[in-house]
Parts: sequence; C-alpha cells; structure tokens
Amino acid sequence: MAKIHNFYLLTCLVVMIPTLYANVKEDEAYWKRQSEVLLVDSYWQERASIAEKENQQAYTSDPYSLTKNLTFSVSEIIIGEKSGRRNLRGRGGKCMATNPIDRCWRCDPNWANNRKKLADCVQGFGRNTIGGKNGPFYVVNSSLDNDMVNPAPGTLRHAVTRSGPLWIIFARSMNIRLSQELIMTSDKTIDGRGVDVYIANGAGITIQFIKNVIIHGIKIFNIQVGNGGLIRDSETHYGFRTYSDGDGISIFGSSNVWIDHVSMRNCKDGLIDAIQGSTAITISNGHFTDHNEVMLFGASDSYDGDKIMQITLAFNHFGKRLVQRMPRCRYGFVHVVNNDYTHWEMYAIGGSKHPTIISEGNRFIAPNNVYAKEITKREYSPEQEWKNWQWRSINDEYMNGAFFREGGSQITDRPFSRQDMITAKPGSYVGRLTRYAGSLRCIVGKPC
Ligand SMILES: *[C@@H]1O[C@H](CO)[C@@H](O)[C@H](O)[C@H]1NC(C)=O
Ligand SMILES: *[C@@H]1O[C@H](CO)[C@@H](O)[C@H](O)[C@H]1NC(C)=O
Repeated sequence: MAKIHNFYLLTCLVVMIPTLYANVKEDEAYWKRQSEVLLVDSYWQERASIAEKENQQAYTSDPYSLTKNLTFSVSEIIIGEKSGRRNLRGRGGKCMATNPIDRCWRCDPNWANNRKKLADCVQGFGRNTIGGKNGPFYVVNSSLDNDMVNPAPGTLRHAVTRSGPLWIIFARSMNIRLSQELIMTSDKTIDGRGVDVYIANGAGITIQFIKNVIIHGIKIFNIQVGNGGLIRDSETHYGFRTYSDGDGISIFGSSNVWIDHVSMRNCKDGLIDAIQGSTAITISNGHFTDHNEVMLFGASDSYDGDKIMQITLAFNHFGKRLVQRMPRCRYGFVHVVNNDYTHWEMYAIGGSKHPTIISEGNRFIAPNNVYAKEITKREYSPEQEWKNWQWRSINDEYMNGAFFREGGSQITDRPFSRQDMITAKPGSYVGRLTRYAGSLRCIVGKPC
C-alpha cells in the first residue's frame, strides 16, 4: 500500500510549474490517471508493492565503487588493445568487440547455440540482470498483435505475459506493430539476434513493477500513443489500462533492466524513460537518433522515491537529429561512461533535484550553434543550489567548443581522478568503443 500512498502524495503535492512539458509524465494529470487506475485494481496494487521491495533490494549503497569497476574494465581493455590482445583483432580479423560488454560474447562464432551467455555480460548498475536465463526458449513466430486479452501462442505479447523466466527469440525477421503497450512480466529476455526485429508504428514496451528484463538487438521506431483498454498484463490477469505514453521503452517502478544494442528513433514521448523508483538499470551499446526528449530518468520533482534510481549509460551513440535530455535526471545516480555524443540541438545532460551525474570518458561534439555549446543544463534552480549537486566530468573529450559545467565536490574516493587516469584519454577512444552501437547484424555461425 505504500506505493499507493506515494501516488496520493504525488497527486496532492505536485506543484504546477508554469511550463508546457512535452513529456507527459511530468504533468500532474499523468500521475492522477496512474493513481486512479491503480486504486481500482488490486492486482496492480500488489504488483506495485512487491516491486517496491525489489527495487529497494536492487539499490546499491556504494554506487561509486561500482562505477569504478566499470571504468576499470574499460581502461583494462584499452590498455589490452594497445598491447595487441588476441581477442581484439582489428579490421582484418573476424571480430572486433571494442568494449567490455561486447567482448564477453560477440566474438563467439557459436553465439546462436550459446545465446544465454549474453546474460553474463552486463556491467554497471544493471549488472545482476539475467533476464530469462533460467528459463526455456520461446520462439516468436508471428508478428501479429490483434488480441490484447488472449494473445495467440507464438506472438510476442503471448511470450512476454507468460509466468516464469523465458528467453524469447524470433523465428524470422519481422515487423511488429503493437496495437497497445506491450506489458512485460519479470524474468524475460527479448533477444533479436540473427534476425531483424522491428517494433514500429504502434505502441511501445512497458516494464512496470517487475524485475529482471533484458532487451537486446531490436529496433524500435515511430512509437505512438496507445489508446488503452483491456490488456493482458500477465498469464493470470488482464485489466483496464488508460492510454500509454508513446515511449519506446517505459521503465516504471522496476529493477534490474538491461537494454543493449537497440536502435531507437522517433517515438512520441521518450525513447527510454525510467521513473517511479526504478533502479539497477544499464543502457548500453544503443544507437539513438531523430528525437527531441531522448531519456527521462525521474519525472517528478516532488517524488523523491527516485533517490534510489541508479543507472549506467555506457557505449551508446547519441546520434543525428537529437535535441535534448540524454538524459534528463532527477534525484538518482547516473553514470554516463564512454558514450559518443555527436549531435544535440539544445543540451546533452541535464536535470533538477540534485541528481548525481558522473560523466566519464565520453566524447561530446557540440553543435555549431554558439548558444548550445554547453553539455549540461540545470533546470529550475539557482546556482547557489545547483553548485552543490555532484556533476563531474572525468576524462571527457570536448569538441567544437563543447563544455561541461561541473558542480559538487571532486571525487576523491576513486583510484583515478583527472590527474592520474590512464595515459590515453578515454574520451578519444569513444569512436571505437561505440562503433558497433545499435542493433547488430548477427549471422549464425559467425562472430557478431
Ligand atoms: C567488477 O565486477 C565484476 C562482477 O561484476 C567482478 O567480477 C570484478 O572482480 C570486479 N572488478 C573490480 C576491479 O572490482
Ligand atoms: C508458433 O508458435 C506457437 C507457440 O510455440 C505454436 O503453438 C505454433 O504452432 C507455432 N506456429 C507455427 C506456424 O509454427
């Protein structure tokens, strides 16, 4: 019931900021709608209260040591590369896994018979995510999505609403237009390797009050608002949902989520939003283009349950025609490491409500617009306030006049700071680390 209480609070306390928000979740009406739906459905109340405990458990009390670990493995691979480590063969070789997550699985020519190896490869805050590793495979063989309550066996909606762990793969390439939001259940992997899977021109993916989900190797384009209605949300239950937001992937009150090698563009709301105390999330190797508000981590200034939010963004390419919010954060702890920011129109990383943002070894290429050179943006707070938020830039590479306005104290409890980092500037390696960002073309029998 605590969760419902939070919703009440939210509804009562949200102060209307006199601005037109573009993300629906930053709007009071959104939370009112959510709380109304939850209040009438005991199924969702229970799911929410279980998830709240799981989210608390997924939270790590020492986020700095975890970020240190990821940075360490990147610097190790970079040093290894210089000394010509065998599994990092260059252009002439068959496989070039250029970052520690990829290195764990991509060079295995037998990947198709060894798919679950992927579950051992996640790093960062989502490191404990195993998805459907302990379950059977489920082969999606139909692109249809025409029955929201009783989806046919073989459809993606049938797969993601089954009880228990499942490793979901696809019989062939397909274009799935979701008629309504795809409401997932815990312990699932959606693995698009070996085929071209598009989730496009319909509703998006909802990860709500669950845990342990991997989404890998799919393309998500042109996601629209879903009208809502009766939708199956698990094997044993379906219920009424209001309209969905039009996010590519919406993470709502969930933990242990790993999104890897997805290509995403042009969704109605966010590409990936994580809200309502979601935590233990890694978003890696993604390729993002053609979008205004790219990622929202925490939607409400008055919901401090997002303090437990811990998210790693690693090896992603923030590419063409992106405008802002890569990400936009509230309260939580976000480690932004070795991403390539090649395009933004307004800013790259922003937030309010004292989130901690550790930006490490990224490349930031500013747009030509002289008014948009600043990477960072603090919303609705005077400098006296934001100067204490810990936003640090460590070994980032700035190009075309990009600059990062730091705040908070220097990080001293890590082995390397600006002065004693490894000799190569990691930011300058980012082009290589992210070269294979986005959904990969994996061929059975060959390294990906
Ligand atoms: C980093 O974490 C992995 C497990 O996620 C562990 O095996 C490894 O020893 C850690 N490395 C460091 C340097 O802490
Ligand atoms: C598709 O998969 C489902 C569930 O495994 C199965 O029942 C059905 O027979 C399959 N259909 C085809 C055409 O292979």
